[in-house]
Amino acid sequence: MNDFLNLGAAATLQQSCPDLELSTDPAVLESHGQDWTRFRQPAPVAVAFPGSVDHVCKLVAVAAEASIPLVPSGGRTGLSGGAVAAQGEVVVSFDRLRSILDFDPIDRTVTVEAGVVTAAVQELARQNDLYYPVSFASEGSSQIGGNIATNAGGIRVLKHGLTRDRVVGLKVVTGRGELLDLNRGLVKNASGYDLRHLFIGSEGTLGLIVEATLKLVEQPPPGKVLLLGLESMDALMKVFASLRSALDLSAFEFFTDKALHHVCQANHLPAPFATPCSLYVICEFDCAEEGAEERAMACFESCTGQGWLVDGIISQSDKQIEDLWRYREGISESISHFPPYKNDLSVRISRVPEFLARVDALMNEICPDFEVVWYGHIGDGNLHLNILKPADMDLLEFESRSHGISEKVYALTQEVGGSISAEHGIGLLKQPWLDRVRSEAEIRYMQEIKKVFDPAGIFNPGKLLPRR
Ligand code: MLT
Ligand code: ZN
Repeated sequence: MNDFLNLGAAATLQQSCPDLELSTDPAVLESHGQDWTRFRQPAPVAVAFPGSVDHVCKLVAVAAEASIPLVPSGGRTGLSGGAVAAQGEVVVSFDRLRSILDFDPIDRTVTVEAGVVTAAVQELARQNDLYYPVSFASEGSSQIGGNIATNAGGIRVLKHGLTRDRVVGLKVVTGRGELLDLNRGLVKNASGYDLRHLFIGSEGTLGLIVEATLKLVEQPPPGKVLLLGLESMDALMKVFASLRSALDLSAFEFFTDKALHHVCQANHLPAPFATPCSLYVICEFDCAEEGAEERAMACFESCTGQGWLVDGIISQSDKQIEDLWRYREGISESISHFPPYKNDLSVRISRVPEFLARVDALMNEICPDFEVVWYGHIGDGNLHLNILKPADMDLLEFESRSHGISEKVYALTQEVGGSISAEHGIGLLKQPWLDRVRSEAEIRYMQEIKKVFDPAGIFNPGKLLPRR
């Protein structure tokens, strides 16, 4: 077939692309062969660091011809194993593709290479009196290419939508080594299939994202944050409805007393209220017009009067906004050492209380010995269910028990018409359950689409879709 078959993958790539930076250093293989999940040992054979789009095209063409599997890798902050290389793949890192290529104040867009860190886009927007609203705890290290590949969400989806809603242009290298320039920053483009949207959320299975044009929005007016203590999910939904009709909410997040315990312990934070509560909400609202704070206070009093709220704090300064957000933003990190088995569930908002109660009842029945920590973006129906590994349990045994739990939780998710991944992606870890939320026909179409863009099947094999 070709001469490459006699050579190792790294040697093949290096010989065919002499300019390509390629590392086989064990420390680099270890660091770049994994994301934030801890259930698979990294085992890539090499890590490629292309320094240009040309390098990427060449690398892909050679890999396709020699059937070398490629795992695209961004900031490696993923939570579903989408960037894990555990099967002798070559990792393609975007660490060298970090240029901001263009900022256009008329279009209000920024064009960046895939390896640009999310926070750098936010900063560039700020410097130009604009705003990039995609925001989450790992924004200081996650990269734009990875955000697009997983259609990242975060805390502002309620008002500003997902990463998908920001992408107005995308350059990708397909499995045929071809560069596609999709949509070119246009607002309107009724010229057929919008292939850009196929690549958003494709988890690196269709092509390598090398460049993106992102739409920025106006700077939001000054905001205020409320931290609230509650006792029941029903009360929480009533408070949500009430605040939403009175205020311009930009975030509405929840966490439980157990989550609060971990975040306070890890960060030496004081308990927010004298009386402990079972549930907490942190919500932010924009104060564009006069009277928003007064409306918030009136709402707070009315909700307290109805018995829905136990306690609450409203921010009085930017510093306090930052401090209050630490209770929510620090949770993920505070439990990462256990490690947690993560479920990233999504249901229609109206079904949240019923779903959460049913999952809780199930967990009490089947795994009362596990600590379960809930938090998430409840305002958009995204619930993070974290099962913590007991200190004395082996990681493999923990994973296998967690799989058994997932079977049941996902059956319930399917019953209520939800999804097993809201924002973390299917990746490697959720792949066995894709058929819980996608029909056989849908998966077949997805596989056919993959064959079109990646005929040699080199992109992220085994992630999202069943291995061929
Ligand atoms: C979050 O909402 O904090 C992130 O999605 C990370 C996580 O789920 O742990
Ligand atoms: Zn989240």
